[in-house]
Amino acid sequence: PSPSVFHRATETALYLRTNLTEELRNPRVAIVCGSGLGGLAETIHPEPRIETAYANIPNFPQSTEHEDTRLMIYGGTVKGHAGKLVFGLIGPAKTSIVLLVGRAHFYEGHTMELVTFATRVCKVLGVETMIVTNAAGGLNPDYAVGDIVCLNDHLNLAGLVGNHPLLGPNIDDFGVRFPPLSDAYDLDLRRRAHLAWKKLGLDKQKRRLHEGVYAFVSGPSYETRAECRMLRTLGADLVGMSTVPEIIVARHSGIRILAFSLVTNNAVLEAGARGDDEGIQEMSSAELEEYLGRGRANHEEVLEEGRLAAEDMQALVKQIMSDLYSI
Ligand code: 6GU
Repeated sequence: PSPSVFHRATETALYLRTNLTEELRNPRVAIVCGSGLGGLAETIHPEPRIETAYANIPNFPQSTEHEDTRLMIYGGTVKGHAGKLVFGLIGPAKTSIVLLVGRAHFYEGHTMELVTFATRVCKVLGVETMIVTNAAGGLNPDYAVGDIVCLNDHLNLAGLVGNHPLLGPNIDDFGVRFPPLSDAYDLDLRRRAHLAWKKLGLDKQKRRLHEGVYAFVSGPSYETRAECRMLRTLGADLVGMSTVPEIIVARHSGIRILAFSLVTNNAVLEAGARGDDEGIQEMSSAELEEYLGRGRANHEEVLEEGRLAAEDMQALVKQIMSDLYSI
């Protein structure tokens, strides 16, 4: 990023602050709502609450997606908007938070600087903790569609080959040149997540909460089966196209991180897991259709599963917040 990104983030934070009332001016927690998870905005107190569309925020990335795609991405909850910031209070302690409903993705063609700009603004606003959510493809065969995964590590695949959000002169205002990432996924917050899951009785339901490793790929195409096998071999439990750049920029500036993925589909199909397609020549048309259909990533399926599991994820985040900031 260019050194001036600090000045632009400060400019944006000042702009936002002037539109905020006293009680909303210093959010302690930022919650990033991924695909179909915008309902998190409904977990805060209805009053006081101030929303600002990304389109009206200076220096913010503007969506490059078409209108109908945008409606789908945000589950119809943010009609006509690429995204919005929601400032409000959450839980019995009325903790001041900011929700980021919708995010800029690298696959849209944004620079890494723009993809992570909102994270820098959060830092300037004084955010201490960030809870990041996303929809991801499951690679771990133990994961079922609809399960939730608390991330405990990542593979920054796009970053390892040169698309890293901290590339360029270090911005000392935010953090050090060579930030460690071995402790990126806060252990205390992860423990709280599992405790909250039990407290809510969600451990007695079908949906499970796992811990896992998220592989960040640039997208926008979904992975081939060979790529899925490669990612699994490399140690990934999930694959997705977001979150990691934001987490790296957040950690650089000392923000604590808690991250959740919603498993919206199985990235890899069982039948083709070996990749040799053995016996495919002898299959009937119906068998072939079924064989080929399994494990094919499909955007509608991703969105539908998001809707179904989003409520448990919302309840989980709300419970963690209540436990974290008690009265
Ligand atoms: Cl299968 N791949 C990627 N890259 N992102 C996803 C996904 C798969 N499912 C949801 N998001």
